[in-house]
Amino acid sequence: MRNGGRLKVGVLLSGGGTNLQALIDACAAPGFPAEIALVLSNKAEAYGLERARRAGIPTTVVDHRPFPDRPSFEREIDRALADAGVECVCLAGFLRVLTEGFVERWHDRMLNIHPSLLPAYKGLETHARALADGVAIHGCTVHFVRPALDDGPLIAQAEVPVHPGDDPAMLAARVLTREHEIYPLALRLMGEGRLSVEGETCLIDGHPGPMRLRWNDAPPIGG
Ligand code: GAR
Repeated sequence: MRNGGRLKVGVLLSGGGTNLQALIDACAAPGFPAEIALVLSNKAEAYGLERARRAGIPTTVVDHRPFPDRPSFEREIDRALADAGVECVCLAGFLRVLTEGFVERWHDRMLNIHPSLLPAYKGLETHARALADGVAIHGCTVHFVRPALDDGPLIAQAEVPVHPGDDPAMLAARVLTREHEIYPLALRLMGEGRLSVEGETCLIDGHPGPMRLRWNDAPPIGG
């Protein structure tokens, strides 16, 4: 645990929020070094907001549509995060492109989850592209966010085997269960103050990351 108590986290999302749920569940465990101070969505109908309300977590909606440009939309997000005392941002299916200014304000304090073993398969349709390439191992990554798409120091990755006959939906579901393992794991490391960045490599307890869960590892206990 860092000095000064639990790390205050803001989660940004646009959709169903199963990764948010994994973070909520992890934060509920005794001794977990982070707490979710705010869940923010650009979409009022995002089911992730309902998950947050059920857990008693403050929510806010910042609809991007009335804003004339991205910086003014992001200033409103920053205001909400600051009001909630947020120290670390977790992107969890937030479907807006962020400007370099916003990303740099949260340098090494903003995490993202992406459904591939980065640097492979940045962008969209990761599962279909992995299947088309015939890879045997696919997976997911938590990383610090940089301005370039799906770029930044890698914190944790989990592998998933590709099975004969998989379609993108089947593979996505298998990957998602592992997303729910590594996001809490990465947030735990962050909250415990065990992450640093040297060059563009994430160090965990001073050793080069990422933490890599193999496809046949058991899930980490307690996230
Ligand atoms: C997750 O699969 C996450 O990896 C992906 O959006 C989904 C959100 O699901 N993110 C990206 O593709 C970012 N490039 P959730 O709302 O159930 O957590």
